[in-house]
Amino acid sequence: MNKHPLLSVRNLCVDYITENGDVRAVNSVSFDIRQGEIFGLAGESGCGKSTVAFSVARLHKPPAYISGGEILFKGENILHYNEERLRTYRWQQVSVVFQSAMNALNPVLRMEEQFCDVLLAHNPGMTRYEAIKRAQELLTIVDIHPSRLKDYPHQFSGGMRQRLVIAIAMALNPELLIMDEPTTALDVVVQREILQKVYALKEKFNFSILFITHDLSLMVEFCDRIGIMYAGELIEVAPAKAILTAPLHPYTKGLGNSFPPLHGPKTVLEGIPGTPLNLLEVPVGCRFQARCGKVHDRCRQEYTFLTEIRPGQQTACHLYEEQGLQQDSVIYLDKAAGC
Ligand SMILES: Nc1ncnc2c1ncn2[C@@H]1O[C@H](COP(=O)(O)OP(=O)(O)OP(=O)(O)O)[C@@H](O)[C@H]1O
Ligand SMILES: [Mg+2]
Repeated sequence: MNKHPLLSVRNLCVDYITENGDVRAVNSVSFDIRQGEIFGLAGESGCGKSTVAFSVARLHKPPAYISGGEILFKGENILHYNEERLRTYRWQQVSVVFQSAMNALNPVLRMEEQFCDVLLAHNPGMTRYEAIKRAQELLTIVDIHPSRLKDYPHQFSGGMRQRLVIAIAMALNPELLIMDEPTTALDVVVQREILQKVYALKEKFNFSILFITHDLSLMVEFCDRIGIMYAGELIEVAPAKAILTAPLHPYTKGLGNSFPPLHGPKTVLEGIPGTPLNLLEVPVGCRFQARCGKVHDRCRQEYTFLTEIRPGQQTACHLYEEQGLQQDSVIYLDKAAGC
């Protein structure tokens, strides 16, 4: 077995060059994704999820630049890859499904051409006949009849188009599939069908997934572990269920309280007071201080580091340093254990 996690992001920093100077959109983010694991990234709009996803695929473009850290894929730092090595990395090791499927497909080309373009460009020696056979196979695995290869994108429903994009992303058997809001534009039933399909494919082919969505309840169902981002930083990483049942960081707790519970009686949703941080005015200390109900002096003075508080659960919050677990979190944990 490979001793490295499939993906290891270490202290990643990404800046955007703007008229007002460089803005750090991602600050010292570290997480691992293991072989076959589904890792989710959640957090409010603008917190840096897509910037992380683009960087992992090395698809970020100016004004974005990686200003620090490492992205290790099977132990190799992909930031050192040249263009040629990146071409293999992008399709054969990592591939990406973005939100708008229609934009990812070429409206004036039949699906057959679009599949063949990818397959022939990356498989030297493959014939067109073999490429079409493979494209038919790919359509079948996303439950679309192979005869539909002759159709144009507009002849498919939104859900089918998203499945087509997933099929193209899987064309070269990637080891990591990045899905950035892959189903946001679709209704909840189609959304679930697609995720179930992706899950079945993952079980069959054992790839890993970096999954990004605004829908925390969907994420908890679909992921093994989840990282919560706030204002460019990762503030909690935990097994998926613990994010809802035993959250540590006050922001994670607020996020959990902003979504209707999956089970049990209806409750009034609390939300999180205040507005997201302006990245041009980052305070000293914790970035969540202005919106945190538990803020104290140390939060305004000292930076918070992601620290393991429970096995497999890390958070970046002064509440848990030195004092260990706070009483209210112990209660959460007991609830989770059904006590
Ligand atoms: N081209 C750009 N130029 C300057 N700043 C940018 C650019 N693209 C993104 N940003 C900034 O980087 C930060 C992170 O953006 P990003 O798109 O990664 O957030 P996100 O978490 O994916 O949000 P959403 O949930 O809305 O997709 C935001 O503050 C955003 O304003
Ligand atoms: Mg985004």
